[in-house]
Amino acid sequence: MNIYLDNAATTFPKPPTVYTSMMNYMMNIGTNPGRGASTASLEGNKVVLNCRYALMDFFNFDKAQNVIFTPNITTSLNTLIKSSVQKGWHVITSSMDHNATLRPLTSLAEKGTIELDILRCSKEGLLNIDDFINAIKTNTKLVVLSHASNIIGSIQPLEAIGKICKDKGIFFIIDAAQTAGVVPLDFYKLSCNALAFTGHKSLLGPQGIGGFLIDDALNEACSAFIEGGTGSLSSSIIQPDFLPDKFESGTLNAPGIAGLLESINYINAEGIDSIRAHEDYLCNHLILGLLNIPSIEVYGFTDVSKRTAAISLNSTKIDNSELGFILDSEYGITTRTGLHCAPLAHENIGTYPTGTLRFGIGPFNDIKDINYTLATLNTIIRKVWFFKWKI
Ligand SMILES: Cc1ncc(COP(=O)(O)O)c(C=O)c1O
Repeated sequence: MNIYLDNAATTFPKPPTVYTSMMNYMMNIGTNPGRGASTASLEGNKVVLNCRYALMDFFNFDKAQNVIFTPNITTSLNTLIKSSVQKGWHVITSSMDHNATLRPLTSLAEKGTIELDILRCSKEGLLNIDDFINAIKTNTKLVVLSHASNIIGSIQPLEAIGKICKDKGIFFIIDAAQTAGVVPLDFYKLSCNALAFTGHKSLLGPQGIGGFLIDDALNEACSAFIEGGTGSLSSSIIQPDFLPDKFESGTLNAPGIAGLLESINYINAEGIDSIRAHEDYLCNHLILGLLNIPSIEVYGFTDVSKRTAAISLNSTKIDNSELGFILDSEYGITTRTGLHCAPLAHENIGTYPTGTLRFGIGPFNDIKDINYTLATLNTIIRKVWFFKWKI
């Protein structure tokens, strides 16, 4: 028995065409896109361009050259933050955000480059709009927020926040790591200046490929972050200032891009709404089952329309790391335990420093996985109770 319930960390398995397209790239194309004019190199360019267009359409964006590839969303967020901020900027983020946002912002604040406000959220992980408005100062120039918590799945009201940022001329960057691929995202409806994504979570692509979409206003405020060979303007030792080259120095992960293109094609063919409905159904079933198991506390919303399928819990009878170990080693259920790279989110929901055990449901899970998991948890908790009672 092997039940994979760690899809909030990385989805597994991938659609079969992701594997075959990557293999095909490596075995039959193999070239370095954007470098040289051989037939194979042009074939590589086509894959990269097709993926840019696929991402552009997927997020209802309209500028293919403003779709930038990076190795992951951590690199995307570092690039966007560190290449845009200027000394004296006040920046706002939230306690529910991931270290991919919190660490670069904190290091800039510690160096004295920026003033940083990390706003505390509700117990369910939501930012209060009045708190957000009250935190805005005359020098607030940037807001960076994740769309959904990687611990309790709560979906932030980003459309409302985006509108406020737009009205006040504040740059707004979204970390869509936990929603891209499972919650429909529209770049312009979110009123953001940049939307960062990672390929290996709900986008169902491989690890090692991510990126961001950036509008012209934020791009103009950004300098290049990583500089080097782009395959363009090679006679110059100055980094090109046009997109995507400005942000894409060094060899791209072309097999990863080939895989991501196929995973987006897969999501489009299945329908993002039907993937979301499937995950909602399983998430609801799991939460209702967990609430019936004595000693277990589930965090965040029980209403699945307000959350994604990243579900955190603790039991008063057994430590979460021990529970995760037993689930894995004795019952073949893969989960993730601990702090999940979001320490302030745990402080926010009252689970710091021990963290939680997290289930991450993905599109390839089914109701049997959830029923088996619930039955297993019931068994383990009963055994622990009996054992402790005997002592
Ligand atoms: C909300 C959020 N942001 C950022 C990241 C970092 O993703 P990656 O490791 O792909 O850069 C994660 C991954 O766990 C995440 O859940």
